Amino acid sequence: MRLPDPALVVLVGASGAGKSTWAAARYRAEEVVSSDALRGVLGSGPHDLDASGDAFAVLETVVAARLRRGLTTVVDTLGLDATRRIAWLDAARAGGLPAVAVLLDTPDAECRRRNGARDRPVPAPVLAGQLRSVRDVRAVLDAEGWDLVVRVGAEDTAATPPAAAAAAEPREDRTSSLGLRSVLQVSRFPWDEDPLAWLTDVARAADEAGFAGLALMDHLIQVPQVGRAWDPIPEPWVALGAIAAAGTGLELGTLCTPVTFRPAGVTAKAAATLSALNGGRAFVGIGAGWFEREHAAYGIPFPPARERLDELERAVVTMKALWAAGTKAYDDHGVALPETTSYPRPAGPIPVVVGGSGERRTLRIAARHGDACNLRTTDETELARLVGVLHAHCEDVGRDRSEVAVTVLDLPVVGADRDDVWARVERLRGRTPAATYAARTHAATVDGHRDRWARLAGLGVSTIFIATPDLGSPDDVLALRGLNA
Ligand code: GTP
Ligand code: MG
Repeated sequence: MRLPDPALVVLVGASGAGKSTWAAARYRAEEVVSSDALRGVLGSGPHDLDASGDAFAVLETVVAARLRRGLTTVVDTLGLDATRRIAWLDAARAGGLPAVAVLLDTPDAECRRRNGARDRPVPAPVLAGQLRSVRDVRAVLDAEGWDLVVRVGAEDTAATPPAAAAAAEPREDRTSSLGLRSVLQVSRFPWDEDPLAWLTDVARAADEAGFAGLALMDHLIQVPQVGRAWDPIPEPWVALGAIAAAGTGLELGTLCTPVTFRPAGVTAKAAATLSALNGGRAFVGIGAGWFEREHAAYGIPFPPARERLDELERAVVTMKALWAAGTKAYDDHGVALPETTSYPRPAGPIPVVVGGSGERRTLRIAARHGDACNLRTTDETELARLVGVLHAHCEDVGRDRSEVAVTVLDLPVVGADRDDVWARVERLRGRTPAATYAARTHAATVDGHRDRWARLAGLGVSTIFIATPDLGSPDDVLALRGLNA
């Protein structure tokens, strides 16, 4: 069972029930606030009862401060004092965190046995009193208002959480066991001396890690969300041509090409060429464009949104017309072409992914002409709503919703374990508070992201474009392979 995170987690159980062991196997040491440990800090050791008053005062301060910052806090005390439990629960509510009670329901005899084996056992009558209290708490816990009450029985108090799902061999169709395909979006290019080697090594790693494809951003100046204006950002169709030569099984394309950069026919030509070079595995992400600065710098007109959206619709229509069989004239949807002579032919269908979440125009263009619609949110409530809007447009324009795939761009922090996740958050968050940054990037291990991706799949998402904010080397790509199992 996976617990909410961030969250307040209050442990309840007698001495020797396994509370500290359970917490240590699941949380970083800094996240566990333990009365025993604080007795050791403020007194002579974890069992210095004279230091209890000071230890609990500090414990309350630490718990309150962490909850206020929205940080996961595991309270490791006996947990038998109802007044304290309720106060922590209220503090979690005030901090906007879910509150979980974890009852270590270890059999009495086992607690006695473990207690007896300790260097400094709790006196037998004291333990007996604790075990009676646990029995009482067991009866009232459900009624206290916890978001979740977890009972850990003797069988599943294993010291380690379930092993991470083993990375499976990539399946041939590259759909994971979650029913998803994932495409690595490369947005930063720390390639040092050898751009070609870096690009092709990253692509080979993505292939090996079971990704279905690789997407490049299409920008003329690196965007501020990703890096600095003087960071390198390659022209994607040229770079994808080089990547095609690496001979992977990846689909290759952009996310997203602004319609303002090139006449749609030229994008159609680039994609058809890529398709011919890459065994028919090319796609085009296309959007209305938004980064005014790069247009100005490169002498490219940046008309008002309405005109760019008109152009977006014509662009999708134009590309499809040029890729269609034959060379006949085309005249529909505001696009008139006297012929559609385009060679080389694409070696396979070229899906068009319409990017953007504009509800009135962009989603309608996707519904009418797109093969997929890339929604730029991973907030599940917002996503569910946008999928609803997309499907309403499909209904409206008489298109079967199954013909328009839902894709999302996910920008997650992925760590090897809990310590690594938080080390990455600390490194990447800049001036953003840690809890805010962690929430925005869904910071978690591979297993945590898989749980979330399963929910995204449940909302109708079929492909996830993933761009991790700290992708630097092929090894970073290989570390993501568990996502594709
Ligand atoms: P107090 O801090 O005294 O309240 O106890 P606690 O609930 O924190 O128990 P703790 O985690 O320290 O575990 C007590 C003893 O039981 C330790 O020696 C652990 O190694 C052992 N133990 C904890 N969980 C398990 C388990 O799942 N299986 C086995 N075999 N031993 C366990
Ligand atoms: Mg303990």
